[in-house]
Amino acid sequence: MDVAGKTILITGSTDGVGRHVALALAAAGAKVLVHGRNRARAERLLATMREGGQADAMFYEADLSSLDNVRALVAAVRRDHQRLDVLVNNAGIGTASGGRQRRVSQDGYELRFAVNYLAGFLLARRLLPLITSSAPARIVNVASAGQSPIDFSDVMLTRSYDGGRAYTQSKLAQVMFTFDLARELAGSGVTVNCLHPATYMDTTMVRDSGTTPISTVQEGADAILSLVASPQLEGRTGLYFNRQQEARALAQAYDEEARAKLRGLSFRLTGLSPT
Ligand SMILES: NC(=O)c1ccc[n+]([C@@H]2O[C@H](COP(=O)([O-])OP(=O)(O)OC[C@H]3O[C@@H](n4cnc5c(N)ncnc54)[C@H](OP(=O)(O)O)[C@@H]3O)[C@@H](O)[C@H]2O)c1
Repeated sequence: MDVAGKTILITGSTDGVGRHVALALAAAGAKVLVHGRNRARAERLLATMREGGQADAMFYEADLSSLDNVRALVAAVRRDHQRLDVLVNNAGIGTASGGRQRRVSQDGYELRFAVNYLAGFLLARRLLPLITSSAPARIVNVASAGQSPIDFSDVMLTRSYDGGRAYTQSKLAQVMFTFDLARELAGSGVTVNCLHPATYMDTTMVRDSGTTPISTVQEGADAILSLVASPQLEGRTGLYFNRQQEARALAQAYDEEARAKLRGLSFRLTGLSPT
């Protein structure tokens, strides 16, 4: 896909790998919709883009720990744009960000499930009319190779909380959502794929967890950019990639019953009606 002139929303693009992806896409001529919570970081990013001759980018501030904020983000994007060619659900919190104790979102849901998964679910669902009317279009979910099964008797992890498990179940939820939405949108011209971008990139999330980075941010950005724009992926949907290699996700992602449960729960938690 030639990204020049395409409108691309990247959540969590004020920092880390999302920031790299935003810069690369802006340099290639895309109209980049930068998203994050930190206005100062966003302003610096937009200034860097302008210095590079790219004046088209816009910033959208929204805290994804609030579903009302997600709804407001959707409204702002719909207000400002006639099309959305690519949505990259990249924003996320790691195993340690904000402390290792169990925390809840502004809506009372387990925080990593809410920010890493549920916000992207609602964002994609509510932006679908704009995305489908822009087809061929793509949705890219930045998940992780760190995945653990969802225990549907305790999705909010009220028993024996562990930050690592909270992160990895939220990442599997993103993969399950990818497979589910890809099937639903088959034939619509909208593809939905997900990936593990790279292992322990040198980003805030990894540094905060005390882990020594082993990959560059550029490696992860390249993998995401491939899902955003590679012509080889035209029409290919419902796939999980480990970096740039097509791969198998954890078994639960292929379990139809589990996916149906997650879909039902997500509609309920976000107050959307199933289509
Ligand atoms: N780093 C790795 O090695 C690795 C490996 C596998 C997968 N991933 C995935 O890659 C994605 C990006 O991670 P990263 O390593 O680039 O992390 P990062 O440097 O910590 O950046 C995270 C981004 O998400 C945003 N964000 C976090 N919480 C938010 C919230 N509540 N509302 C709105 N925005 C929020 C941050 O915005 P602010 O500027 O407002 O903080 C920032 O732009 C994540 O989904 C992560 O799970 C990373």
